Amino acid sequence: MEVIIKPEANDLAPVAADIVERLVLRKPAAVLGVATGSSPVGLYAELGRRVAAGRLSLAGCRAFMLDEYVGLAADHPQRYRNVIEQELVARTDLVSERVLGPDGLADDIPAACAAYEQAISDAGGVDLQILGVGSDGHIAFNEPSSSLGSRTRIKTLARQTRIDNARFFGGDVAQVPTHCLTQGVGTIMAARRVVLLADGEHKAEAVHQLVEGPVSAMWTATALQWHPQATVIVDEAAASRLALHDYYLDVYAEKPGWQE
Ligand code: GLP
Repeated sequence: MEVIIKPEANDLAPVAADIVERLVLRKPAAVLGVATGSSPVGLYAELGRRVAAGRLSLAGCRAFMLDEYVGLAADHPQRYRNVIEQELVARTDLVSERVLGPDGLADDIPAACAAYEQAISDAGGVDLQILGVGSDGHIAFNEPSSSLGSRTRIKTLARQTRIDNARFFGGDVAQVPTHCLTQGVGTIMAARRVVLLADGEHKAEAVHQLVEGPVSAMWTATALQWHPQATVIVDEAAASRLALHDYYLDVYAEKPGWQE
């Protein structure tokens, strides 16, 4: 696992955008995995600036979302499909019809989840998965105790996650849905590369666990320790509990120019 520590939260987006840009230059029809939440918002804005500057185009890419709330109306502003439309599609030249997410309004949820897995597979799999991490160490909505081999399915949100996400629902936890559809840990692990962004002191324990803790379903992000190409990009606040903090700085400073 590669750990990149930058001084401030604002410093993360350019590093992650460089990784996306290098991939898309090499593979214009790349399949991107896109996360919602606050963590990737700066990255999406940076990608938008690069598209506007003519140095990058996502027009040939496809994108698959990580997760979706169950039962939010199609026009609800916090429906993740709408969030991605606003934060990523509207800012870049990614084509809306080429972005897919799990269908949180499906009548037959198991069938919708299976169809979603099939769609990812039919697209050739995800080349680059962008991730955030929950304060309880979840990736996508794989809450503590999720199977590390799981695939897209329905999950019940942890109380802490609903509290964390209440800020998007006017601060009212009761408005946060109780269920979601989420790619499984196994689905995420099948991506060819993953890049996880985290900033702030409130993520420090999750980052410590995901990088240095024992692999455990209690912190589902720890499964990424098994991923052959995982990059974790954090600010100093989120890195504040890392035991090998200085080593990660040295590794990045001494990184050979040829090494992707
Ligand atoms: C949310 C999302 C995740 C996200 C995480 C962290 O609930 N389902 O995909 O990575 O929790 O969110 P944030 O980036 O807002 O801290």
